[in-house]
Amino acid sequence: MKSKRLSESYCLGIESTADDFSVGISTFDGRIMANVISAYVPEEGGIHPREAARHHAEVASKVLEEAFMKSRIKPRDLSIIAFSQGPGLGPCLRTGATIARALSSYLNIPLVGVNHCIAHIEIGKLETNTKDPVTLYVSGGNTIVAAFDSGRYRVFGETLDIALGNCLDVFAREAGLRQKPGMPFGAVVEKLASKGTKLISLPYIVKGMDTSYSGLLTAAVNLLKKNVYRLEDLCYSLQETAFSMITEVTERALAHTEKKEVLLTGGVAANKRLQSMIKTVAEEHDARFCVVPSQFAIDNGAMIAWTGVLAYKHGIVTPIERSFVKLRWRLEEVEVPWIR
Ligand code: ATP
Ligand code: FE2
Repeated sequence: MKSKRLSESYCLGIESTADDFSVGISTFDGRIMANVISAYVPEEGGIHPREAARHHAEVASKVLEEAFMKSRIKPRDLSIIAFSQGPGLGPCLRTGATIARALSSYLNIPLVGVNHCIAHIEIGKLETNTKDPVTLYVSGGNTIVAAFDSGRYRVFGETLDIALGNCLDVFAREAGLRQKPGMPFGAVVEKLASKGTKLISLPYIVKGMDTSYSGLLTAAVNLLKKNVYRLEDLCYSLQETAFSMITEVTERALAHTEKKEVLLTGGVAANKRLQSMIKTVAEEHDARFCVVPSQFAIDNGAMIAWTGVLAYKHGIVTPIERSFVKLRWRLEEVEVPWIR
């Protein structure tokens, strides 16, 4: 292992925190060799954790096989196995962890448990070549403004209730909209919002450095049911209000930390309107604006593989007896010795 070059040492990463099962393979110097994602799309309603976990178990061997095929490496070429240890949905996390433990034991190579939120930040940094950004991580389960300080990533602001992506998803479902592979609810709302012209007043809730989206969602759904506004205008107003709230928090984190980069990541990062709002505040503070490429914005195994490499290179391994999943593992609990 020691004699191998970094470009010839490989980490396989397994992501299974929520509705996606994904396997990525990264070299020790950050070349992504494979990133195969299989999304679980429920027939209707939200994600049912046990149904999603069943999907993960069903597709696991096919996804693994495809990742090996794409990367043209064999299981025996791997040096470590990384997996999302949390936060996330219990049954989904446990399915990924079980596969990771089995692979690590069978191949007799170290196991590394990775914090999913930190992985979103690290893959963003790798892919956009940022060094020390203020990160806005917005997805279906998380809404976090974070930046590195004194050995850890610190949360500068977050949602007090539901995540921004979840707010868009629930609104879309209430409006009877349909999502399909490649066109998640957030993207459906974005498309309709682009045809909106009227800004309807909705609750704008920022408390200190935190945001709250549940009141905004309830108000938007109530207006939807009254049937007095065009759906396009409601989508437009929902986006403008929700995005402005988190942009305000991001701007304050930027002003406070005086960092020179802003990184936008997570599934909602695909939204062009959010990108333009964050870009504007970045420019006002002379900071470089970066957005993670879409295949690395959504949940993916590559981010777990790469963060596994960073941790392993700094002496972090997860023995099997400490590889239990952590459903509420906050990112500021994790030491990140790879940043100095
Ligand atoms: P996490 O476990 O990190 O919370 P997740 O399971 O929610 O992640 P992601 O793929 O990171 O998965 O994010 C999915 C969210 O991104 C969904 O809420 C989806 O509607 C939203 N989304 C995707 N594309 C867009 C878009 N163009 N505009 C707004 N939201 C979007
Ligand atoms: Fe995620």
